[in-house]
Amino acid sequence: MADYNAIDRLTAQLSRAQSAASERQADVAGRLHRARRVVVLSGAGISVASGIGTYRGAGGLWENPELLEAHQVGSLPDSLPIIWSVKGPMRARALAARPNPAHMALVKLESQLVGRGGRLTIITQNIDGLHQRAGNTEVLEMHGSMMRSRCYDRTCSLKPFEDTYAPPAGEVPICPRCQVQPLRPDVVLFGEALPWSVISAAEFALHQADVLLVVGTSGAVSSATTTIDSAAAYGVYCVLINKEPWDHPHPHVNETLLGSAEEVLPRLVFLAAAQAGAA
Ligand code: APR
Repeated sequence: MADYNAIDRLTAQLSRAQSAASERQADVAGRLHRARRVVVLSGAGISVASGIGTYRGAGGLWENPELLEAHQVGSLPDSLPIIWSVKGPMRARALAARPNPAHMALVKLESQLVGRGGRLTIITQNIDGLHQRAGNTEVLEMHGSMMRSRCYDRTCSLKPFEDTYAPPAGEVPICPRCQVQPLRPDVVLFGEALPWSVISAAEFALHQADVLLVVGTSGAVSSATTTIDSAAAYGVYCVLINKEPWDHPHPHVNETLLGSAEEVLPRLVFLAAAQAGAA
């Protein structure tokens, strides 16, 4: 016979957990509503609903050790055929992809903030260009962009350029300027420095921020953890929105909302707007 008392206890526990989660969401929405300056740090998870895969975890790109090795700066230039065999199809996928509700929620958030004299800065680890295509105006690409290419030879006069060509497997495109050296995607490989202009602009935005939203990243690379460290040094309230909890929770994350970015972000932005309407 069913243990109705146990079922009642479980139901009560579940509804207490749900209302605690709603209260925490409402608290974050309140902070967004009161904020003037918000910074978002986004990672691969925000683009999952657009059909772009992640790097780590089941099915992630770095599950394949050969690909991981090829993306170390020390493996260049020999690894360019492998890099292009990954980045070519990724470019094609990103071009065909559309921004999802998580990207669109950030466009709404930017317009709410701008409407009251504030500002939204997105620092992204993603190289897919989807924040810009969604319509956000201030996007700092920490890891470069796979929508640009540049000459492998740093002394070549060719500047990084917009490039939508997706080479088929086996092809390494040649620099159209020097016509000798191969092209490489304008992305940051393991072991390469992050672009200084992006880092300083990110630091400036964090210095002025009220809230930092960290969305869809595993926090496995230092660009995520140092961004949170900087935010904490400036007294910025930090919220992590991720599908899974981090393996190594960061001590300066003040609140964690577990869930899909494409569900949590639209809800938060809706609640923040509702609070503005009620004010
Ligand atoms: N919503 C929110 N989070 C999600 C979703 C989703 N729909 N789907 C997956 N996630 C989470 C996963 O749980 C994981 O924690 O997104 C995170 C993706 O982690 P990574 O694959 O490690 O991506 P990211 O953190 O952006 O990687 C950082 O590492 O290799 C480098 O340059 C590469 O920019 C990349 C950097």
